[in-house]
Amino acid sequence: SENIYILGIESSCDDTAASVMLNGKILSNVVASQKIHEEFGGVVPELASRAHQQNIVPVVHQALVKAGITKDQLQAVAFTRGPGLMGSLLVGTSFAKSLAYGLDIPLIDVNHMQGHILAHFIDEDGFNKPPFPFLAMTISGGHTQIVKVNNYFDMEVIGETIDDAVGEAYDKSGKILGLGYPAGPEIDKRAQLGNPKAFKFTKPKVTGLKFSFSGLKTAILYFIQKEVKANPNFIEENLNDICASIQYTIIGILIDKLKLASKETGIKHIAIGGGVSANSGIRKALKDGEQKFGWTTYVPKFEFTTDNAAMIAIVGYLKYLEHDFSETNITASARLKI
Ligand code: KG4
Ligand code: ZN
Repeated sequence: SENIYILGIESSCDDTAASVMLNGKILSNVVASQKIHEEFGGVVPELASRAHQQNIVPVVHQALVKAGITKDQLQAVAFTRGPGLMGSLLVGTSFAKSLAYGLDIPLIDVNHMQGHILAHFIDEDGFNKPPFPFLAMTISGGHTQIVKVNNYFDMEVIGETIDDAVGEAYDKSGKILGLGYPAGPEIDKRAQLGNPKAFKFTKPKVTGLKFSFSGLKTAILYFIQKEVKANPNFIEENLNDICASIQYTIIGILIDKLKLASKETGIKHIAIGGGVSANSGIRKALKDGEQKFGWTTYVPKFEFTTDNAAMIAIVGYLKYLEHDFSETNITASARLKI
C-alpha cells in the first residue's frame, strides 16, 4: 500500500504551524506562537500577518526535518483557507499554493473549524475516535459552536455564539481582574483553589443552542467595580474565589447547552476541541456527564486542541483519499462557513 505524506499549514490567527502526516499519523507538529500580542492584550491583525511572513518558511522547514523527509516526498499540501484573519490566512494560502505548484502536487483547502473537529481522527495511541454521528463543541478564543457531525464532511452547525467566544469571556474577565493575556489558563488554575459558589453571576438568557458571553463580561465588570469601591483590596483578597465563580458560571453555560443539544439530537457521543478544552472544569464536567447522562466523551491530546497544523493535515489526508483537491484559483476566505 502507498505511503501518503501530507504537509499541513495553519496560519488563521496568531500561530504559524506546519505538520507532516503519514497515513493519518503525525510525524511532526511544529507551532510558532506569536508572543508579540501579549503586550496588547489581544491579537493585533497586522502584526500577526507580519509574524506569519517571518515564521512560515522556518516552521515548514522544521516540520519536514522533524518528520525526516524532504519536500519531494510530499504527496499534497493542505492549508487553512478560513475562517480567520484575512492578512494571516493570505500568508499560509499563498505559501501553500506556491509550494504545491512548485512541487507539482495537489493543493487541498481546509476549513479551520472542520480541522478542530476532525483532529479527533488523528491516529494516536490511547485516543478513541468518535463514531458518527457525534456532537462536537469547539471552544476557543475565536469560536464557540456546537456541530452535529454526520460524517467527515457532512456537518451542521446547530448552535453558536451571537457575540463573544468563550475564550474571550475568560480573557476579558482576566483583563478586568488585572491578569495577563491570555487569562484562561490562570483563571483555570486559580479556580481550582477557590470556592465556585462564593459569588453568583447570572447566566445569559439566550434561547436554544445559541451562546452569549458579552453580558456575562459586563456583569463581572460591574460586580468588580462595585466591590472595589467598597474595598480597594477586594480583588487581591478574593481572587481565587472570583476565578472559581467565573469558571463555575461559564462551565455551567457550556454544559447546559450540551445537555440541550444531546436531548434535541438524541446523540450521546460528545467531542470537544479548541484552546478552552484544556480547561480542568470542562474536562471534569464532561467526565461527570458520562455518569449522569450516559455520555461518551472525547477530548483530544492537548497539542491538537489549540491551533495547530496536525488538524489541517488530517483533513488534508481525508480529502486526499477522496481526491478532493483545490482549484488553482482558490483564495483565502475570512468568513468561511462549515
Ligand atoms: O484555540 P486557541 O489556542 O486559539 C484560538 O482562539 O483559536 O484558544 C485560545 C483560548 C484563549 O482565550 C485562552 O484564554 C483559552 O483558549 N484557554 C483557556 C485555557 N487554556 C487556554 N481557557 C480556560 N481554561 C484553560 N485552561
Ligand atoms: Zn482555532
